[in-house]
Amino acid sequence: MIKKGIILAGGHGTRMSPLTKVVNKQLLPIYDKPLIYYPLSILMLSKIRDILIIVNKGQLNQYKKLFQNGKNLGLKISYIEQSYPRGLPDAFILGEKFIGRENVALILGDNFFYGQSLSDKLLESKKLTSGAKVYLHKVSKPELYGVAKINHRNKIIGIKEKPKKYYSNYAITGLYYFDNKVIKYAKSLKPSKRNELEITDLLKKYLSNKKLFAEVIGRGGAWLDTGSIEDFYKTSNFVSSVENRQGFKIACLEEISFNNKWINKKEILEAIKFYGNCDYSKYLKNLIIK
Ligand code: G1P
Repeated sequence: MIKKGIILAGGHGTRMSPLTKVVNKQLLPIYDKPLIYYPLSILMLSKIRDILIIVNKGQLNQYKKLFQNGKNLGLKISYIEQSYPRGLPDAFILGEKFIGRENVALILGDNFFYGQSLSDKLLESKKLTSGAKVYLHKVSKPELYGVAKINHRNKIIGIKEKPKKYYSNYAITGLYYFDNKVIKYAKSLKPSKRNELEITDLLKKYLSNKKLFAEVIGRGGAWLDTGSIEDFYKTSNFVSSVENRQGFKIACLEEISFNNKWINKKEILEAIKFYGNCDYSKYLKNLIIK
């Protein structure tokens, strides 16, 4: 059972500069809330409550203003500042103390997931006791991502980071579940040509031990990119379309926590006070007058 989760919210932020020159990308809006709400909601839907957020140097105060220690969301949130982004596996080296002897989930702070049966899949993945699990999604531009080749039984048979020549169109998304060996494996990695520790190298360790498992997000699910400015706005539009059509919010953290029975009316009222007079608060109000 996985009880700990890490959100990696660091990164160079160069692809979205000058927007990200002063403010961290994960704090920029995807429609009506900061981007980080979306990956955090995914961990919460996995019923993971003990969460470490890794942020860029100098950004800690902003995140703390938003989430404090997480208590108001029924969570326990801790933070680590990363002095320099050294690649995704660095999360497990920086987070060693936080992880302790537990297994751990990692989600990238800029990844957006949405879909009907996603919550069930997330709860299933949480049961992982040994090995690693990745979420795959078919994309039209696999060269932009880490990709996995799978056989007819959805078993991973090979992986490559951003292959220049076609290898597979199943992207390895930024949501991963690992057993505790991940710390040892992360420490044994050598930097790649782009001078970063690569998540795909880490996954290869599990693959060679026949311990890498796949969960495929089908065509009814969405994994959207927030990598470039263009994609950022497309994701924002997606959220706006769904929310305005249905009247439900995607990634309303207090709603998820309330439904999980981690918080009650009192915390919702406090959240309304915290956010002030806005649509998000109105939505929260509706949750408790029903
Ligand atoms: C990283 C990983 C890649 C993965 C992607 C998901 O890419 O290296 O394997 O597919 O995240 O968002 P990067 O953001 O470093 O380009």
